[in-house]
Amino acid sequence: MDLRENLKKIEEEAEQLFSRADSLEKLEELRIVFLGKKGKITDVLKQMGKMSPEERPVLGQAANQLKDKLNNLLSARKNELEEILQAKKLEEERIDITLPGTEIITGHLHPLTRITKEIEDIFIGLGFTIEEGPEIETEYNNFEALNVPKYHPARDLQDTFYIDDHYLLRTHTSPVQVRTMARQKPPIRIIAPGRVYRSDDIDASHSPVFYQAEGLVIDKDISFADLKGTIQLFVQSVFGENTRTRFRPSYFPFTEPSAEVDISCVICGGEGCRLCSYTGWLEILGSGMVHPRVLEMAGFDPEEYSGYAFGMGLDRITMLKYGINDIRLLYENDQRFLHQF
Ligand code: PHE
Repeated sequence: MDLRENLKKIEEEAEQLFSRADSLEKLEELRIVFLGKKGKITDVLKQMGKMSPEERPVLGQAANQLKDKLNNLLSARKNELEEILQAKKLEEERIDITLPGTEIITGHLHPLTRITKEIEDIFIGLGFTIEEGPEIETEYNNFEALNVPKYHPARDLQDTFYIDDHYLLRTHTSPVQVRTMARQKPPIRIIAPGRVYRSDDIDASHSPVFYQAEGLVIDKDISFADLKGTIQLFVQSVFGENTRTRFRPSYFPFTEPSAEVDISCVICGGEGCRLCSYTGWLEILGSGMVHPRVLEMAGFDPEEYSGYAFGMGLDRITMLKYGINDIRLLYENDQRFLHQF
């Protein structure tokens, strides 16, 4: 048998099998079968002894050429396979960026917080600074220093949660006035938002916990006109340019004169409707010139300094601004309600 013919057959067989190999493992197996120590080419060379001495080198050369050729074929097929496998992997890992993404749900500010921030910004723009005070207050700061002595009937105006003889839950933000005056000399220009408490029964317009923002300005030559101008500007910023204000004489122990402030109805604009009980007006805050007694107790000379103060219900303002008809909605945290803001 002609060994060169054998080599030819091996070559053909190898070419076919290499091109069909579909994995690197398979290719390695084939390499061993054809080129390994016990492989097909070695087999042929082992039989060289049967040949004449002249023929041997010719066959040896042919075998070496075939080895080279097969090695080249193997590495070419290997490259090809690697490319195919890589492409397959990329295809598998492909991300379809046209698929809808996962929605990220972020929270948002509670309507009361929104209004509080809006009001703070308005007053910061007017040169006020923000002050805060504790919700558990002394009876002195909440009442005495604001010209509401013990057994004075004015204490009944605000139903109070007492903690003991000395401490209570503040019934308004006005004690922040007292704290600020104890710490700071005029000129004073502060706005103090915060939570307050009164032992009221709960209904659509009353909650035992609610929010107020207090304003206090003390300086030389502060007049009622300053109060009116500031409140007018504030009201127009929150409720719109066309909103009118009205100052109605009233009574607070810590201001003299005192006034309650009404705004033209946010629904009917003053025509009269159910919201404003057909008066055309809505009450939104209490105000007045700081009582000389309050200035004196803070250690300021009422002959030298004067000031104004005001306190507003933030819940009420929020309700009017957003058309909310029940204060309880602000505290129940019903998602159906909160999602509307
Ligand atoms: N503290 C008053 C209240 O809660 C509001 C007020 C504040 C009135 C400042 C006048 C001046 O009703």
